[in-house]
Amino acid sequence: MAKMNKSFQNLKQNYLFAEISKRVGEFVAANPDAPLIRMGIGDVTLPLVPAVVQAGKNAFDEMGVKETFRGYEDSGRGYPFLREAVAGYYKSMPSEPGSSPQLPTPDEIFISDGAKSDSGNIGDIFAEDCKVIVTDPSYPVYVDSSIMGGRQVAFADFAGTNLPETADIIYLCSPNNPTGEAYTYKELKKWVDYAIANKAVIIYDTAYEAFITQSDKPRSIYLIEGARQCAIEIASLSKIAGFTGTRCGYTVVPKELVLENPAEGGHANAGSAWKRRQATKFNGVSYPVQRAAEAVFSKEGQQQIQQNLSYYRKNAQIITNTLTELGIDFTGGINSPYIWFKCPDSMDSWDFFDLFLNKANVVGTPGVGFGKNGAGRFRLTAFSTHENTEEAMKRLRAMLK
Ligand code: MLT
Repeated sequence: MAKMNKSFQNLKQNYLFAEISKRVGEFVAANPDAPLIRMGIGDVTLPLVPAVVQAGKNAFDEMGVKETFRGYEDSGRGYPFLREAVAGYYKSMPSEPGSSPQLPTPDEIFISDGAKSDSGNIGDIFAEDCKVIVTDPSYPVYVDSSIMGGRQVAFADFAGTNLPETADIIYLCSPNNPTGEAYTYKELKKWVDYAIANKAVIIYDTAYEAFITQSDKPRSIYLIEGARQCAIEIASLSKIAGFTGTRCGYTVVPKELVLENPAEGGHANAGSAWKRRQATKFNGVSYPVQRAAEAVFSKEGQQQIQQNLSYYRKNAQIITNTLTELGIDFTGGINSPYIWFKCPDSMDSWDFFDLFLNKANVVGTPGVGFGKNGAGRFRLTAFSTHENTEEAMKRLRAMLK
């Protein structure tokens, strides 16, 4: 009989958001008329912007005409038009005064169906005995996929105090999911220096970069000197352009990034390994979606997505104003769509989840689901509507009275 991957025994029973969905499903079955407000999983509520919709429609029209129809994409790593648009987007990012960052070029960019798959799949290019560091609390995919790959995971705090002496793979996310904090240039440089000193690779998740508003916080790790030799960046259009259901993202593997490979004279190029992996296991993102994604980076698309981001920022402010008024400690909401707060009355995360669901019919995410350091914390997203965000805060106030 085929044997199961033994590492699965080391996983938690359920993936965090699957567990939430199960509990919410049970609640809804028992209370079908409850006026539920969902602020748990970071799923967007505003539709795709007009520039994106039009580009997608045009591309589907092309697919219906013999002369412009397209089948498999040759490279499987993304059409040049989209990789060039992404490279142009990097050039538009503000950088630290006086710095001259070397930004990703189109041939270092790999188009994907989103950050979740790439942050898990990237493990394929590393040896099984690589030691992984994950900041705790963090997006559960980093830990779960490392465990599935048979790797050991050590934990660090967001700032990287008391880091172990050795590390091979380091998962970072800024603006952070779940805490909403974002690294400053200085703080991120510290991680880059640590990775270089350890010959480690940082897997840098920037799914929320467009939410950054403060000028001392970089929107890409490549704005930090040295990052090209130690970092892979994984980005997504899900949160910044409403692609959670459309699916598109990109991963950057700089040419300078090498992995130890005794079989081939000592070193292997990480980008070639990722290209090999993708060519084997991934057939690319559909042409219409890539055209729609290209439109995100157009002038019109950028203006339109900024309006959506402002809408979500206003929700974040409604939440943070309420927490301030209630005297509850929180982080996030400034450079991030997530607000991370201390459960009132020192409650346990899951107890607060149940209370908030049952008493106020609001779904959030229990902090402990993001790691041990999330115990006693709770996460809300700003991706709801204004009306539901206001209503959820009204119910929170009433519940805590
Ligand atoms: C989250 O809520 O943490 C994310 O939306 C989950 C995801 O992007 O997969």
